[in-house]
Amino acid sequence: MTNRLFTPFPTLITERLTLRQLLLSDAQDIFALRSDSEINKYLGRQPSKTVEDARHFIDIITENIKKNESIYWVITLTESKTFVGTICLFEFSDQHNNCEIGYELLRHFQGKGMMKEAASKVIEYAVQTIKVQTINAFTHKNNQKSTKLLAQLEFKKSVEPDKTSPDFCVFTFSNKI
Ligand SMILES: CC(C)(COP(=O)(O)OP(=O)(O)OC[C@H]1O[C@@H](n2cnc3c(N)ncnc32)[C@H](O)[C@@H]1OP(=O)(O)O)[C@@H](O)C(=O)NCCC(=O)NCCS
Repeated sequence: MTNRLFTPFPTLITERLTLRQLLLSDAQDIFALRSDSEINKYLGRQPSKTVEDARHFIDIITENIKKNESIYWVITLTESKTFVGTICLFEFSDQHNNCEIGYELLRHFQGKGMMKEAASKVIEYAVQTIKVQTINAFTHKNNQKSTKLLAQLEFKKSVEPDKTSPDFCVFTFSNKI
């Protein structure tokens, strides 16, 4: 059984980063992230076309967090409060004690080890506080940056591709505690 209670919002702090709640005032940055063709390249999602799409997305995420269905952090630089990306846990299963992870960084902030730093903290929170036993990541077979990140985070690649979308690989992190 997972322990999901996302109110009050669990802000997380790492060496360089603060992972905080998503706000309506993030709409412009969320739009920048979700409309960028390079970021969307392997995600198989509909790109945001307007800032209004981003606001709608923020409303949906906020509702899901209120219902403890998923959790979504904005990754910011602690010193300057700059928005650098997002990371989320979703598709929780109480039956299997697991969930899925998703993440993205604005282009300018890639290649600096920021997602490794953020994801390590989120995985620690998922295991220690939510008490999931495994975390799944579905990543496109050509998404080398994501695949490299998952290997560094000790996710293991499943031999079976994702049954519903064969271009995606399944990676799983198992809690060894
Ligand atoms: C997937 C994604 C988040 C990976 O971002 P990233 O910046 O490459 O990942 P990391 O934070 O782990 O950074 C690693 C890189 O930073 C470099 N780096 C620089 N300073 C570093 C530091 N202090 N510590 C660690 N690594 C550092 C590493 O050498 C590495 O670079 P390399 O890949 O050229 O060797 C990014 O490519 C992205 O947002 N993609 C679009 C969205 C997406 O596909 N998401 C996946 C959904 S499944």
